[in-house]
Amino acid sequence: MGPAAAATGELGRDIVRRIEALAAISETPDNLTRIFLSPEHRAAADLLLSWMRDAGMAAHLDAIGNVCGRYEGERSGLPCLMLGSHYDTVRDAGKWDGPLGLVTAIGCVADLHRRGRRLPFAVEVTGFADEEGVRFASTLLGSRAVAGTFDESVLGSRDSAGVSMRDALTTFGLDPDHTGAAARIRAELLAYVELHIEQGPVLEGLNLPVGIVTAIAGATRLAASLTGMAGHAGTVPMLLRRDALAGAAECIVEIEQFCRTDQDGLVGTVGYIDARPGATNVIPGQVSFTIDIRAPTDAHRKLAVTDIVRRIENIAKRRKLQLQLDVTHENRTVPCAPWLRSQISEAVAAEGIRAFELPSGAGHDGMAMIDVADVAMLFVRCRGGISHHPDEHVDPDDADAGARVLLRLIENFRPREVASE
Ligand code: GLV
Ligand code: MN
Ligand code: MN
Repeated sequence: MGPAAAATGELGRDIVRRIEALAAISETPDNLTRIFLSPEHRAAADLLLSWMRDAGMAAHLDAIGNVCGRYEGERSGLPCLMLGSHYDTVRDAGKWDGPLGLVTAIGCVADLHRRGRRLPFAVEVTGFADEEGVRFASTLLGSRAVAGTFDESVLGSRDSAGVSMRDALTTFGLDPDHTGAAARIRAELLAYVELHIEQGPVLEGLNLPVGIVTAIAGATRLAASLTGMAGHAGTVPMLLRRDALAGAAECIVEIEQFCRTDQDGLVGTVGYIDARPGATNVIPGQVSFTIDIRAPTDAHRKLAVTDIVRRIENIAKRRKLQLQLDVTHENRTVPCAPWLRSQISEAVAAEGIRAFELPSGAGHDGMAMIDVADVAMLFVRCRGGISHHPDEHVDPDDADAGARVLLRLIENFRPREVASE
Protein backbone atom coordinates (compact mmCIF):
# COMPACT_ATOMS: atom_id res chain seq x y z
CA MET A 1 0.00 0.00 0.00
CA GLY A 2 1.36 3.45 -0.96
CA PRO A 3 1.25 6.72 0.99
CA ALA A 4 -2.12 7.84 2.38
CA ALA A 5 -4.31 10.44 0.67
CA ALA A 6 -4.15 14.03 1.92
CA ALA A 7 -5.37 14.63 5.48
CA THR A 8 -8.52 16.68 6.06
CA GLY A 9 -7.78 20.35 5.45
CA GLU A 10 -4.54 19.80 3.51
CA LEU A 11 -6.05 20.09 0.02
CA GLY A 12 -8.02 23.17 1.12
CA ARG A 13 -4.89 24.90 2.44
CA ASP A 14 -3.06 24.15 -0.80
CA ILE A 15 -5.99 25.59 -2.79
CA VAL A 16 -6.01 28.84 -0.78
CA ARG A 17 -2.24 29.25 -1.24
CA ARG A 18 -2.54 28.86 -5.01
CA ILE A 19 -5.64 31.11 -5.22
CA GLU A 20 -3.73 33.90 -3.45
CA ALA A 21 -0.72 33.47 -5.76
CA LEU A 22 -2.91 33.71 -8.87
CA ALA A 23 -4.86 36.68 -7.48
CA ALA A 24 -1.58 38.60 -7.18
CA ILE A 25 -1.24 38.48 -10.98
CA SER A 26 -3.40 41.42 -12.02
CA GLU A 27 -3.34 44.24 -14.58
CA THR A 28 -4.36 46.66 -11.83
CA PRO A 29 -2.53 46.88 -8.48
CA ASP A 30 -5.55 47.55 -6.27
CA ASN A 31 -7.95 44.94 -7.58
CA LEU A 32 -8.02 41.78 -9.70
CA THR A 33 -8.34 42.10 -13.46
CA ARG A 34 -6.83 39.50 -15.77
CA ILE A 35 -8.16 39.78 -19.28
CA PHE A 36 -7.66 37.35 -22.18
CA LEU A 37 -4.21 37.67 -23.82
CA SER A 38 -2.88 40.41 -21.53
CA PRO A 39 0.70 40.14 -20.19
CA GLU A 40 -0.75 39.16 -16.76
CA HIS A 41 -2.82 36.47 -18.44
CA ARG A 42 0.43 35.11 -19.85
CA ALA A 43 2.14 35.27 -16.43
CA ALA A 44 -0.77 33.34 -14.86
CA ALA A 45 -0.52 30.74 -17.65
CA ASP A 46 3.18 30.26 -16.91
CA LEU A 47 2.51 29.81 -13.19
CA LEU A 48 -0.23 27.25 -13.92
CA LEU A 49 2.08 25.36 -16.29
CA SER A 50 4.75 25.15 -13.60
CA TRP A 51 2.22 23.87 -11.02
CA MET A 52 1.00 21.25 -13.50
CA ARG A 53 4.54 20.02 -14.10
CA ASP A 54 5.21 19.89 -10.36
CA ALA A 55 2.05 17.78 -10.04
CA GLY A 56 3.46 15.18 -12.43
CA MET A 57 1.73 16.36 -15.60
CA ALA A 58 3.10 17.01 -19.05
CA ALA A 59 1.97 20.60 -19.69
CA HIS A 60 1.76 22.98 -22.64
CA LEU A 61 0.00 26.10 -23.86
CA ASP A 62 -2.37 25.26 -26.73
CA ALA A 63 -3.11 27.28 -29.86
CA ILE A 64 -5.65 29.64 -28.22
CA GLY A 65 -3.79 30.09 -24.91
CA ASN A 66 -5.41 27.30 -22.88
CA VAL A 67 -3.12 25.77 -20.28
CA CYS A 68 -3.19 21.99 -20.77
CA GLY A 69 -1.84 19.41 -18.34
CA ARG A 70 -1.92 15.65 -18.77
CA TYR A 71 -1.34 12.98 -16.14
CA GLU A 72 -0.97 9.64 -17.89
CA GLY A 73 -2.92 6.60 -16.81
CA GLU A 74 -1.66 3.05 -16.25
CA ARG A 75 -0.20 3.26 -19.74
CA SER A 76 0.36 6.25 -21.93
CA GLY A 77 -2.08 7.42 -24.59
CA LEU A 78 -5.33 6.39 -22.83
CA PRO A 79 -8.47 8.55 -23.21
CA CYS A 80 -8.82 11.09 -20.44
CA LEU A 81 -11.18 12.37 -17.82
CA MET A 82 -10.84 16.12 -18.42
CA LEU A 83 -11.13 18.54 -15.51
CA GLY A 84 -10.96 22.28 -15.94
CA SER A 85 -12.10 25.82 -15.51
CA HIS A 86 -10.93 29.26 -16.69
CA TYR A 87 -8.09 31.56 -15.66
CA ASP A 88 -9.31 34.85 -17.16
CA THR A 89 -11.36 37.15 -14.92
CA VAL A 90 -13.92 39.92 -15.19
CA ARG A 91 -12.77 43.45 -14.27
CA ASP A 92 -12.46 44.05 -10.51
CA ALA A 93 -13.04 40.34 -10.03
CA GLY A 94 -13.15 37.93 -7.14
CA LYS A 95 -10.31 35.44 -6.73
CA TRP A 96 -12.30 32.25 -7.01
CA ASP A 97 -14.42 32.37 -10.17
CA GLY A 98 -12.51 30.06 -12.51
CA PRO A 99 -9.23 29.53 -10.62
CA LEU A 100 -10.95 27.47 -7.88
CA GLY A 101 -11.79 24.67 -10.33
CA LEU A 102 -8.35 24.78 -11.86
CA VAL A 103 -6.26 24.76 -8.71
CA THR A 104 -8.49 22.12 -7.12
CA ALA A 105 -7.96 19.86 -10.14
CA ILE A 106 -4.19 20.46 -10.04
CA GLY A 107 -4.19 19.73 -6.28
CA CYS A 108 -6.05 16.43 -6.85
CA VAL A 109 -3.58 15.33 -9.53
CA ALA A 110 -0.68 16.36 -7.29
CA ASP A 111 -2.12 14.09 -4.61
CA LEU A 112 -2.40 11.14 -7.04
CA HIS A 113 1.17 11.83 -8.18
CA ARG A 114 2.51 11.99 -4.61
CA ARG A 115 0.97 8.58 -3.95
CA GLY A 116 2.21 7.17 -7.26
CA ARG A 117 -1.42 6.36 -8.13
CA ARG A 118 -2.14 5.66 -11.81
CA LEU A 119 -5.67 5.09 -13.09
CA PRO A 120 -7.07 3.11 -16.01
CA PHE A 121 -7.49 6.44 -17.86
CA ALA A 122 -5.51 9.66 -18.12
CA VAL A 123 -6.50 12.78 -16.18
CA GLU A 124 -6.19 16.09 -17.98
CA VAL A 125 -6.55 19.55 -16.49
CA THR A 126 -7.39 22.44 -18.83
CA GLY A 127 -7.20 26.09 -17.83
CA PHE A 128 -9.41 27.80 -20.37
CA ALA A 129 -8.02 31.09 -21.62
CA ASP A 130 -11.27 33.00 -22.11
CA GLU A 131 -14.56 32.17 -20.48
CA GLU A 132 -15.72 35.63 -19.42
CA GLY A 133 -15.63 37.26 -22.85
CA VAL A 134 -14.57 40.61 -21.39
CA ARG A 135 -12.04 41.67 -24.00
CA PHE A 136 -13.71 40.75 -27.28
CA ALA A 137 -17.44 40.59 -27.96
CA SER A 138 -17.56 36.80 -27.78
CA THR A 139 -17.09 34.38 -24.96
CA LEU A 140 -15.98 30.78 -24.20
CA LEU A 141 -13.17 31.21 -26.72
CA GLY A 142 -10.86 28.71 -24.96
CA SER A 143 -13.41 25.93 -24.58
CA ARG A 144 -14.83 26.49 -28.05
CA ALA A 145 -11.35 26.00 -29.48
CA VAL A 146 -11.01 22.69 -27.58
CA ALA A 147 -14.50 21.60 -28.67
CA GLY A 148 -13.66 22.41 -32.30
CA THR A 149 -16.38 25.08 -32.57
CA PHE A 150 -14.15 28.19 -32.49
CA ASP A 151 -15.46 30.62 -35.10
CA GLU A 152 -12.43 32.02 -36.92
CA SER A 153 -14.37 35.08 -38.03
CA VAL A 154 -13.95 36.44 -34.47
CA LEU A 155 -10.20 36.76 -35.06
CA GLY A 156 -10.91 40.10 -36.73
CA SER A 157 -12.88 41.49 -33.78
CA ARG A 158 -11.27 44.35 -31.86
CA ASP A 159 -11.07 45.23 -28.18
CA SER A 160 -11.97 48.69 -26.84
CA ALA A 161 -8.42 49.90 -27.63
CA GLY A 162 -8.75 48.80 -31.26
CA VAL A 163 -6.42 45.77 -30.98
CA SER A 164 -7.62 42.81 -33.06
CA MET A 165 -7.78 39.31 -31.56
CA ARG A 166 -5.40 38.23 -34.31
CA ASP A 167 -2.77 40.76 -33.16
CA ALA A 168 -3.37 40.00 -29.47
CA LEU A 169 -2.76 36.28 -30.12
CA THR A 170 0.48 37.09 -31.94
CA THR A 171 1.68 39.32 -29.08
CA PHE A 172 0.84 36.51 -26.63
CA GLY A 173 3.17 34.25 -28.65
CA LEU A 174 0.53 32.28 -30.57
CA ASP A 175 -0.16 31.85 -34.28
CA PRO A 176 -3.65 33.16 -35.14
CA ASP A 177 -3.69 30.99 -38.28
CA HIS A 178 -3.46 27.78 -36.25
CA THR A 179 -6.21 28.10 -33.62
CA GLY A 180 -7.70 24.89 -35.06
CA ALA A 181 -4.81 22.94 -33.52
CA ALA A 182 -6.44 23.33 -30.08
CA ALA A 183 -9.39 21.11 -31.09
CA ARG A 184 -9.84 17.71 -29.47
CA ILE A 185 -11.93 14.78 -30.62
CA ARG A 186 -14.66 12.93 -28.70
CA ALA A 187 -12.72 9.65 -28.60
CA GLU A 188 -9.96 11.34 -26.55
CA LEU A 189 -12.33 12.50 -23.79
CA LEU A 190 -14.28 10.22 -21.43
CA ALA A 191 -16.01 13.21 -19.84
CA TYR A 192 -15.52 16.87 -18.88
CA VAL A 193 -16.05 17.70 -15.19
CA GLU A 194 -15.74 21.22 -13.77
CA LEU A 195 -15.68 22.32 -10.15
CA HIS A 196 -16.69 25.98 -9.71
CA ILE A 197 -17.93 28.33 -7.02
CA GLU A 198 -21.72 28.47 -6.97
CA GLN A 199 -21.85 32.28 -7.49
CA GLY A 200 -25.28 32.31 -5.84
CA PRO A 201 -26.81 31.88 -2.36
CA VAL A 202 -28.53 28.46 -2.56
CA LEU A 203 -25.88 26.24 -0.93
CA GLU A 204 -25.28 28.77 1.83
CA GLY A 205 -29.02 28.87 2.54
CA LEU A 206 -29.04 25.08 2.90
CA ASN A 207 -25.78 24.98 4.88
CA LEU A 208 -24.17 22.66 2.33
CA PRO A 209 -20.52 22.95 1.23
CA VAL A 210 -21.09 21.48 -2.26
CA GLY A 211 -23.88 20.84 -4.77
CA ILE A 212 -24.31 18.90 -8.01
CA VAL A 213 -25.32 20.90 -11.09
CA THR A 214 -28.29 19.73 -13.16
CA ALA A 215 -27.90 22.10 -16.14
CA ILE A 216 -26.17 25.33 -17.18
CA ALA A 217 -28.66 28.02 -18.21
CA GLY A 218 -28.36 29.46 -21.71
CA ALA A 219 -27.67 33.13 -22.42
CA THR A 220 -28.08 35.66 -25.20
CA ARG A 221 -25.80 38.69 -25.41
CA LEU A 222 -26.50 41.66 -27.67
CA ALA A 223 -24.57 44.78 -28.63
CA ALA A 224 -26.81 47.84 -29.06
CA SER A 225 -25.89 51.15 -30.58
CA LEU A 226 -28.10 54.25 -30.70
CA THR A 227 -27.23 57.21 -32.89
CA GLY A 228 -28.90 60.58 -32.46
CA MET A 229 -27.48 64.05 -32.91
CA ALA A 230 -24.73 65.60 -30.81
CA GLY A 231 -25.24 69.27 -30.02
CA HIS A 232 -24.78 72.17 -27.62
CA ALA A 233 -26.08 71.46 -24.10
CA GLY A 234 -27.05 75.09 -23.63
CA THR A 235 -28.74 75.96 -26.90
CA VAL A 236 -30.72 73.01 -28.29
CA PRO A 237 -34.29 73.06 -26.87
CA MET A 238 -35.31 69.85 -25.10
CA LEU A 239 -38.03 68.95 -27.58
CA LEU A 240 -35.67 69.22 -30.54
CA ARG A 241 -33.00 66.90 -29.15
CA ARG A 242 -32.11 63.41 -30.35
CA ASP A 243 -30.17 62.45 -27.22
CA ALA A 244 -28.73 58.95 -27.64
CA LEU A 245 -27.88 58.58 -23.94
CA ALA A 246 -31.38 59.51 -22.75
CA GLY A 247 -32.67 56.93 -25.26
CA ALA A 248 -30.29 54.29 -23.92
CA ALA A 249 -31.38 55.10 -20.37
CA GLU A 250 -35.00 54.50 -21.34
CA CYS A 251 -34.03 51.18 -22.96
CA ILE A 252 -32.13 50.09 -19.85
CA VAL A 253 -35.03 50.84 -17.52
CA GLU A 254 -37.41 49.10 -19.95
CA ILE A 255 -35.23 45.95 -19.88
CA GLU A 256 -35.14 46.04 -16.09
CA GLN A 257 -38.91 46.50 -15.78
CA PHE A 258 -39.62 43.76 -18.31
CA CYS A 259 -37.40 41.23 -16.49
CA ARG A 260 -38.69 42.26 -13.07
CA THR A 261 -42.28 41.50 -13.98
CA ASP A 262 -41.35 38.00 -15.14
CA GLN A 263 -42.18 35.40 -12.49
CA ASP A 264 -40.05 32.58 -13.92
CA GLY A 265 -36.42 33.47 -13.41
CA LEU A 266 -35.77 35.78 -16.38
CA VAL A 267 -32.77 38.07 -15.74
CA GLY A 268 -31.50 40.94 -17.90
CA THR A 269 -28.39 43.08 -17.42
CA VAL A 270 -26.86 46.08 -19.15
CA GLY A 271 -23.29 45.80 -17.90
CA TYR A 272 -21.45 48.18 -20.21
CA ILE A 273 -22.26 51.56 -21.72
CA ASP A 274 -20.21 54.07 -23.69
CA ALA A 275 -21.47 57.56 -24.54
CA ARG A 276 -19.88 59.82 -27.18
CA PRO A 277 -18.53 62.38 -27.51
CA GLY A 278 -18.58 62.29 -23.69
CA ALA A 279 -18.45 65.87 -22.43
CA THR A 280 -20.52 67.68 -19.79
CA ASN A 281 -21.75 70.34 -22.19
CA VAL A 282 -22.45 68.17 -25.25
CA ILE A 283 -25.66 66.25 -25.94
CA PRO A 284 -24.58 62.60 -26.44
CA GLY A 285 -24.90 61.69 -30.12
CA GLN A 286 -23.79 58.08 -30.01
CA VAL A 287 -24.18 55.40 -27.35
CA SER A 288 -23.23 51.73 -27.29
CA PHE A 289 -24.33 49.28 -24.63
CA THR A 290 -24.47 45.54 -24.05
CA ILE A 291 -27.44 43.40 -23.04
CA ASP A 292 -27.24 39.98 -21.32
CA ILE A 293 -30.45 37.95 -21.09
CA ARG A 294 -30.82 34.59 -19.32
CA ALA A 295 -33.71 32.33 -18.34
CA PRO A 296 -34.11 28.79 -17.03
CA THR A 297 -35.31 27.47 -20.43
CA ASP A 298 -34.24 28.29 -23.97
CA ALA A 299 -37.84 28.84 -25.13
CA HIS A 300 -38.42 31.38 -22.34
CA ARG A 301 -35.15 33.22 -23.10
CA LYS A 302 -35.84 33.38 -26.85
CA LEU A 303 -39.34 34.80 -26.33
CA ALA A 304 -37.94 37.37 -23.89
CA VAL A 305 -35.21 38.44 -26.33
CA THR A 306 -37.80 38.93 -29.10
CA ASP A 307 -39.94 41.04 -26.79
CA ILE A 308 -37.01 43.13 -25.52
CA VAL A 309 -35.78 43.79 -29.07
CA ARG A 310 -39.27 44.98 -30.07
CA ARG A 311 -39.42 47.31 -27.06
CA ILE A 312 -35.99 48.81 -27.85
CA GLU A 313 -36.97 49.30 -31.49
CA ASN A 314 -40.08 51.19 -30.38
CA ILE A 315 -38.09 53.47 -28.06
CA ALA A 316 -35.55 54.21 -30.81
CA LYS A 317 -38.31 54.95 -33.31
CA ARG A 318 -40.21 57.28 -30.98
CA ARG A 319 -37.00 59.17 -30.14
CA LYS A 320 -35.86 59.29 -33.79
CA LEU A 321 -32.66 57.44 -32.97
CA GLN A 322 -30.96 55.10 -35.38
CA LEU A 323 -30.64 51.64 -33.88
CA GLN A 324 -28.10 48.90 -34.57
CA LEU A 325 -28.70 45.70 -32.59
CA ASP A 326 -26.53 42.60 -33.02
CA VAL A 327 -26.54 39.26 -31.23
CA THR A 328 -22.90 38.79 -30.19
CA HIS A 329 -23.29 35.52 -28.33
CA GLU A 330 -25.97 32.87 -27.97
CA ASN A 331 -25.68 29.75 -25.88
CA ARG A 332 -28.27 27.07 -25.40
CA THR A 333 -29.04 25.54 -22.01
CA VAL A 334 -26.70 22.60 -21.46
CA PRO A 335 -27.79 19.59 -19.39
CA CYS A 336 -25.27 17.82 -17.17
CA ALA A 337 -25.07 14.10 -18.02
CA PRO A 338 -27.14 11.92 -15.63
CA TRP A 339 -24.46 9.17 -15.56
CA LEU A 340 -21.85 11.69 -14.40
CA ARG A 341 -24.25 13.35 -11.96
CA SER A 342 -24.85 10.04 -10.25
CA GLN A 343 -21.09 9.41 -9.87
CA ILE A 344 -20.66 12.89 -8.37
CA SER A 345 -23.60 12.22 -6.02
CA GLU A 346 -21.91 9.00 -4.86
CA ALA A 347 -18.68 10.90 -4.16
CA VAL A 348 -20.56 13.65 -2.27
CA ALA A 349 -22.45 11.10 -0.16
CA ALA A 350 -19.24 9.15 0.54
CA GLU A 351 -17.81 12.37 2.04
CA GLY A 352 -20.79 12.41 4.42
CA ILE A 353 -22.49 15.35 2.66
CA ARG A 354 -26.13 15.42 1.52
CA ALA A 355 -26.16 15.13 -2.28
CA PHE A 356 -28.14 18.16 -3.39
CA GLU A 357 -28.79 19.14 -7.03
CA LEU A 358 -29.23 22.68 -8.36
CA PRO A 359 -29.13 24.46 -11.74
CA SER A 360 -26.44 26.97 -12.73
CA GLY A 361 -27.61 30.45 -13.68
CA ALA A 362 -24.04 31.44 -14.59
CA GLY A 363 -22.32 30.39 -17.81
CA HIS A 364 -19.42 27.93 -17.79
CA ASP A 365 -16.98 26.28 -20.17
CA GLY A 366 -19.15 23.16 -20.14
CA MET A 367 -21.51 25.05 -22.46
CA ALA A 368 -18.88 24.69 -25.18
CA MET A 369 -17.39 21.38 -24.03
CA ILE A 370 -20.76 19.62 -24.53
CA ASP A 371 -19.87 19.54 -28.25
CA VAL A 372 -16.95 17.19 -27.58
CA ALA A 373 -17.80 15.36 -24.32
CA ASP A 374 -20.51 14.65 -21.76
CA VAL A 375 -20.35 17.37 -19.12
CA ALA A 376 -20.90 17.63 -15.35
CA MET A 377 -20.26 20.23 -12.65
CA LEU A 378 -19.73 20.36 -8.91
CA PHE A 379 -20.48 23.65 -7.13
CA VAL A 380 -18.72 24.84 -3.98
CA ARG A 381 -20.52 27.22 -1.61
CA CYS A 382 -19.45 30.88 -1.67
CA ARG A 383 -20.04 33.45 1.06
CA GLY A 384 -23.20 35.51 0.66
CA GLY A 385 -23.68 34.19 -2.87
CA ILE A 386 -21.38 37.03 -3.97
CA SER A 387 -19.47 36.70 -7.25
CA HIS A 388 -18.04 38.93 -10.00
CA HIS A 389 -17.07 41.16 -7.08
CA PRO A 390 -13.89 41.48 -4.98
CA ASP A 391 -15.79 40.20 -1.90
CA GLU A 392 -16.18 36.78 -3.52
CA HIS A 393 -15.04 34.26 -0.90
CA VAL A 394 -14.83 30.51 -0.34
CA ASP A 395 -14.21 29.09 3.10
CA PRO A 396 -11.03 26.94 3.14
CA ASP A 397 -13.06 24.06 4.68
CA ASP A 398 -15.48 24.22 1.75
CA ALA A 399 -12.59 24.31 -0.74
CA ASP A 400 -11.26 21.22 1.04
CA ALA A 401 -14.65 19.47 0.90
CA GLY A 402 -14.90 20.21 -2.85
CA ALA A 403 -11.40 18.85 -3.44
CA ARG A 404 -12.10 15.68 -1.49
CA VAL A 405 -15.27 15.06 -3.50
CA LEU A 406 -13.40 15.68 -6.75
CA LEU A 407 -10.53 13.40 -5.76
CA ARG A 408 -12.96 10.65 -4.81
CA LEU A 409 -14.80 11.11 -8.11
CA ILE A 410 -11.54 10.81 -10.05
CA GLU A 411 -10.38 7.69 -8.21
CA ASN A 412 -13.78 5.95 -8.55
CA PHE A 413 -14.57 7.21 -12.04
CA ARG A 414 -16.14 4.70 -14.43
CA PRO A 415 -16.38 5.67 -18.12
CA ARG A 416 -19.91 5.73 -19.53
CA GLU A 417 -19.92 2.21 -21.03
CA VAL A 418 -18.67 0.67 -17.79
CA ALA A 419 -20.93 2.87 -15.64
CA SER A 420 -24.08 1.77 -17.50
CA GLU A 421 -23.28 -1.96 -17.59
C1 GLV B 1 -19.76 34.00 -16.75
O1 GLV B 1 -19.30 34.25 -15.66
C2 GLV B 1 -21.11 34.34 -17.06
O2 GLV B 1 -22.04 33.65 -16.59
O3 GLV B 1 -21.32 35.37 -17.71
MN1 MN C 1 -16.53 31.23 -14.06
MN1 MN D 1 -17.40 34.67 -14.25
